[in-house]
Amino acid sequence: MNANSAAASASAGRRFPGGFYWGVATSAYQVEGAWDEDGKGESIWDRFAHTPGKIKNNDTGDVANDHYHRHEEDVALMKSIGVTAYRFSVAWPRIFPDGTGRPNPKGVGFYSRLVDELLAAGIEPFATLYHWDLPQALQDRYGGWQSMETVRAFADYAGYVAGQLGDRVKHFFTINEFRSFVEAGYRGTDAKVGGGKTVHLAAPPELQLPPAGLNQVRHHAVLGHGLAVQAIRAHGRADTEAGFAENMAVAVPVIGTPEHVKAAETATRELNAAFLTVMLEGRYTDAYLADAGSDAPRFTDEELTTIASPVDFAGINVYRPNVYVAPSDRPPGYHVIPISASHPTMASAWHIFDPEVMYWAPRQVSSLWQPKSIFITENGCAAADQISEDGNIYDSDRVMFLRACLTQLQRATSEGLPVHGYFHWSAQDNFEWLSGFGDRFGLIYVDFTTLERIPKLSAQWYREAARLNAVV
Ligand code: FCB
Repeated sequence: MNANSAAASASAGRRFPGGFYWGVATSAYQVEGAWDEDGKGESIWDRFAHTPGKIKNNDTGDVANDHYHRHEEDVALMKSIGVTAYRFSVAWPRIFPDGTGRPNPKGVGFYSRLVDELLAAGIEPFATLYHWDLPQALQDRYGGWQSMETVRAFADYAGYVAGQLGDRVKHFFTINEFRSFVEAGYRGTDAKVGGGKTVHLAAPPELQLPPAGLNQVRHHAVLGHGLAVQAIRAHGRADTEAGFAENMAVAVPVIGTPEHVKAAETATRELNAAFLTVMLEGRYTDAYLADAGSDAPRFTDEELTTIASPVDFAGINVYRPNVYVAPSDRPPGYHVIPISASHPTMASAWHIFDPEVMYWAPRQVSSLWQPKSIFITENGCAAADQISEDGNIYDSDRVMFLRACLTQLQRATSEGLPVHGYFHWSAQDNFEWLSGFGDRFGLIYVDFTTLERIPKLSAQWYREAARLNAVV
């Protein structure tokens, strides 16, 4: 048996369905650089990163991977590692430097060229419209997502981009990670990291709103999504598809019996009440409204219908279990189990390692809401990548992580769950929110002094998995 047929037989039975997308993901601020070139306006992340002390080592995305100028090389690299889909984000302030008003043709031109290059390389473009880089002008004028003005401006921008790119881009994600930018930006959030410890995260615009204000921002974010879906349908083509990319909170059952599985589903539905649940059900859960009491968001029935505008797919970013739960006889039907202090983590402190989340997340989404299609829009891990003496980067931990997570995803597809693609975060090492260039997430290593790119061991793994459409 030669090496190729051995690999093929090792993966037999671990195949994904035909047409499964093997993707990679990035976002504009994290890779593009060229922060003020070709008429781009300032974003809230430009302002934040330019403020000393906000980001580790005072790193900024001013240059980042210089993808804005090196996109041809980057598309070629993606092709060389077997990628068949690329999820990138469009920087709103490149298109509308002031948030609204006159579009900037040079900004549109950049994404248009990128899309053409991707298609020529046989890579399907998937565009995210909001990966947090709000035009600073909208923050200054309206207080960002606190105002319906921003919500409406977002829908206008989404429709405009769908009109410009919709002849070639068939999949649009409205907003990336509602939970992250709303909670970290408008209140400050604590992520549980095991042993009762938490990590505090605060992002621009660094507000600390009281509960009523925060709930209203949450509501505006999902309303922005719903209006954007409608705008994409109005300005795209008949076959343009739209959905969201949310980092749903996942409650993982520790024991796979029906009672535990049900308890975990109930928990997941509640944990996502303000985002995923309302977008897919068109209603806030009773428990969410009761808990919020007089701080509940103000909304109309018509807004709820808009929020739940039918989507073509649900995109979920899946990195870690948020909680483990067990059933309970008392309402709400589950209780949360503490995460052990010795629970394994990947290199980031927040990154509790449990590949099973990659099975339970799509299974719960499917069983709770039956979307037509599901994409894993992000999954990946940071690692202490170093160039070894022979010039290679042996990221054995990332290979372990990939193999373990994709094994669980293949388990999901083999049970018939409609997962149609996986996007690894990230294509390349990049600028990470808050931690700068310290946290390396890429399949491709980047030397941030020379900007040289070197595919890692995990890129080789990914190429083989994509080639065989299977866990290898
Ligand atoms: C997600 C973000 C993405 C990246 C990864 C590590 O929360 O969507 O931009 O930073 O985490």
